[in-house]
Amino acid sequence: MARPGTARRPPPLDRHVLYERAVQSPDTELGLLTRLLARAGQPARRLREDFSGTALLSACWVEGGPDRAAVAVDLDPAVHRWAARHRLPALGAAARRLELVQADVRHAPRGPFDAILALNFSYQVFRERAELGAYLAAARRALVPGGLFMLDLFGGWLSLQEATERRRIGGGVTYVWEHDACDAITHRIRCAIHFELPGGRRLRRAFTYDWRLWSLPELRDLMAEAGFDRIEVQWDVEPPGVEPRYLPRRHAANQGAWLAYLVGRRPGLSAR
Ligand SMILES: C[S@@+](CC[C@H](N)C(=O)[O-])C[C@H]1O[C@@H](n2cnc3c(N)ncnc32)[C@H](O)[C@@H]1O
Repeated sequence: MARPGTARRPPPLDRHVLYERAVQSPDTELGLLTRLLARAGQPARRLREDFSGTALLSACWVEGGPDRAAVAVDLDPAVHRWAARHRLPALGAAARRLELVQADVRHAPRGPFDAILALNFSYQVFRERAELGAYLAAARRALVPGGLFMLDLFGGWLSLQEATERRRIGGGVTYVWEHDACDAITHRIRCAIHFELPGGRRLRRAFTYDWRLWSLPELRDLMAEAGFDRIEVQWDVEPPGVEPRYLPRRHAANQGAWLAYLVGRRPGLSAR
């Protein structure tokens, strides 16, 4: 799937462009979503992208067909100004099916939606159980019966330690992910994304996060308490360094670092 927005590009070293290139994988995520919706015989029309940032995922979604619509929700008006300037014009007629909504995700449009995605660990901004629970319950209410909610998560013992990960992302740019050691009592974790640019320049602290590192069992329990059913873990079954392939798993061997998706559904029959 082509990345919408590339036709009217912002400057190549714009921090949002670098962020999308470094950490977003709309093809993988929409591929997984489409497969899960198809498996359940669920319609795949109306998507809500929570914590949307620049709405890359929503744009890819509406580009996927004329019956698809998306609502991208973010608290920060600046990211949606960026999307309105750089992303929507390149979408052409499909832009009419992408709505940018500035709101707290706990008060986001009610849809109902066929699917709601909360990606790149953004829900970890809710550091209190009641806050995260309220968000999950609101998301569940905004789904059609049988509608799907999906979030991603990371873990493993390395995620509890101070760490710096560096990766070349093309164009002479290096992406740097840095996080402090996780507070053993609160699981508060502060993270930052930096970019090293050609010519020795640096874009330090391009993005910063103050999160609680939620564990997988905690998240699964919170989703159940928020009223989701058929909760499943989509686990990357490929070894490190190989293109990820996510399959449902109930158990997994412990490992230093892992990425997974948690998927739940609003109880009830699908809206077919
Ligand atoms: C890590 S970025 C995620 C961008 C993109 N969705 C992705 O997958 O990479 C987190 C975004 O969440 C937004 N955000 C943080 N708290 C929020 C809240 N309570 N409601 C809505 N958006 C929020 C921030 O403004 C930021 O744009």
